Amino acid sequence: MGTFPKVELCPTTKLPEFAFIGRSNVGKSSLINMLCGRKALAKTSSTPGKTQAINLFEINGNWQLADLPGYGYAKVSKSIREQFGFMIKNYLKLRTNLFCTFILIDVRLSPQEVDLEMINWMGENEVPFYIVFTKTDKLKVKELEQNIEGFTNKLLETWTELPYMFASSSKTFLGQEEILDFVKSAL
Ligand code: GTP
Ligand code: MG
Repeated sequence: MGTFPKVELCPTTKLPEFAFIGRSNVGKSSLINMLCGRKALAKTSSTPGKTQAINLFEINGNWQLADLPGYGYAKVSKSIREQFGFMIKNYLKLRTNLFCTFILIDVRLSPQEVDLEMINWMGENEVPFYIVFTKTDKLKVKELEQNIEGFTNKLLETWTELPYMFASSSKTFLGQEEILDFVKSAL
């Protein structure tokens, strides 16, 4: 559908939209390609900061997917970081056909402050979301379980109810069926 620098310029449509947000380099664009079974629908890069605008993709004519820039990337200037943060939050608040948002979390890391801040912001602004752990192929099963439990416990410090959580890998296709089934059940 195209690339748009701010939500006000995104075409209005009635198709339900599913957004993918997360820290820079967490694997948003890769997950989108994996879900769609396409190698390069969304542009990916090992250098953080690849996605710089709102990218919309129409899938099968009955739903839409939004690839957004990463938040909290330390190596860009503070003003660019703030600009991305503003773009993402405005998108989340103003996009009328936004059905739900997937917050991607790199499963290899301990709970990151920027992710927790974003999750809390979603709660305060009543934006419904799900968690998707990415890069699960990079950990052994035991570590994977420990990290997911660690993240869950961190959330339980402030939340009484937990969001639904998916585990994914764009390398092994883990999570593809489960996430697509979830989308289909919502349409
Ligand atoms: P920005 O657009 O910069 O915010 O990044 P992004 O979140 O879209 O990340 P992107 O999909 O571009 O992936 C970043 C890097 O992580 C790339 O080198 C990917 O190949 C790698 N990567 C993404 N997902 C996975 C995964 O599930 N497993 C592994 N092993 N690598 C992954
Ligand atoms: Mg990207």
